[in-house]
Amino acid sequence: MADPIEITGLVKTYREPVLDHLDLAVAGGVFALLGPNGAGKTTLVSILTTLVQPDAGSVRIHGVDVLRDPAAARALVSATGQETTLDDLLTGRENLVMLGRLLGLGSRARERAAELLEQVDLVSAADRQVSTYSGGMRRRLDLAASFIAPAPVLFLDEPTTGLDPTSRRRVWNDVRTLAGSGTTVFLTTQTLDEAEALADRIAVLRNGRIVADGTAAELTALVGGQRLDLVDPEGRTVRSIETDGSAASIEHVLATLDPVERDLQVVLHSPTLDDAFIALTHDPEEIAA
Ligand SMILES: Nc1ncnc2c1ncn2[C@@H]1O[C@H](COP(=O)(O)OP(=O)(O)O)[C@@H](O)[C@H]1O
Ligand SMILES: [Mg+2]
Repeated sequence: MADPIEITGLVKTYREPVLDHLDLAVAGGVFALLGPNGAGKTTLVSILTTLVQPDAGSVRIHGVDVLRDPAAARALVSATGQETTLDDLLTGRENLVMLGRLLGLGSRARERAAELLEQVDLVSAADRQVSTYSGGMRRRLDLAASFIAPAPVLFLDEPTTGLDPTSRRRVWNDVRTLAGSGTTVFLTTQTLDEAEALADRIAVLRNGRIVADGTAAELTALVGGQRLDLVDPEGRTVRSIETDGSAASIEHVLATLDPVERDLQVVLHSPTLDDAFIALTHDPEEIAA
């Protein structure tokens, strides 16, 4: 069977190239596209949800060609970042009921709205006008709206950016619940902890291409073995030296230190996903600076 999402040779240029012959296949579960601000994440999601036309390449969602048959593709996806579809003058509950009816739930719409308000923890605010909601509450209502009638593939573009830590955890739980029910979740994020907390697979977008793709453990392994850091009394890492973690390799590193470095503290650490992200998204000169 075809993968839920298959992207081949995707090109999109605005003033500069944003997506540069990007290839990616997403097999299901929760997939996180990780990249700094301006990397092209929203552009990619907009193409996948038929809102933007690429200059070249192909996209298939469950085998449906998104560019040739956008209507059929739209039936297979839902997306957030659609806060505009919320009506400020209606209550949270009224918004969800209305959307449920539009999505064909009929008499089930009220019941579904109540379930979702509970799930995103908006029960106490359910009957207030959306115009009185905080940013985090709007985001959670928006998320609930995308959960009403889950399509096979859900796109979440930076679902927790700007949320406080508690709301963020709630959104994470909602995403896990949805993924557990069989929906493929494609989320974008700028933060590693979110990718690590949620995703079965993480891909890093840089310079218009996928520069790394794998589980958190696989990405972490890309940056190599254990490191020996030399730390000054203020806690700054003066030098970080790669080792294979063996006693012989550490002994060799220590034997070759400058005399002045012998007064520094020695700290051994395994690479973290943080190290991998920095290595994958920055030029070596930037890291040294
Ligand atoms: N409609 C547009 N017109 C011109 N440039 C755009 C447009 N949309 C995005 N861009 C540019 O494309 C690049 C990627 O943007 P975006 O996809 O929003 O990145 P991200 O979501 O990763 O922050 C940025 O340099 C941005 O300025
Ligand atoms: Mg964006």
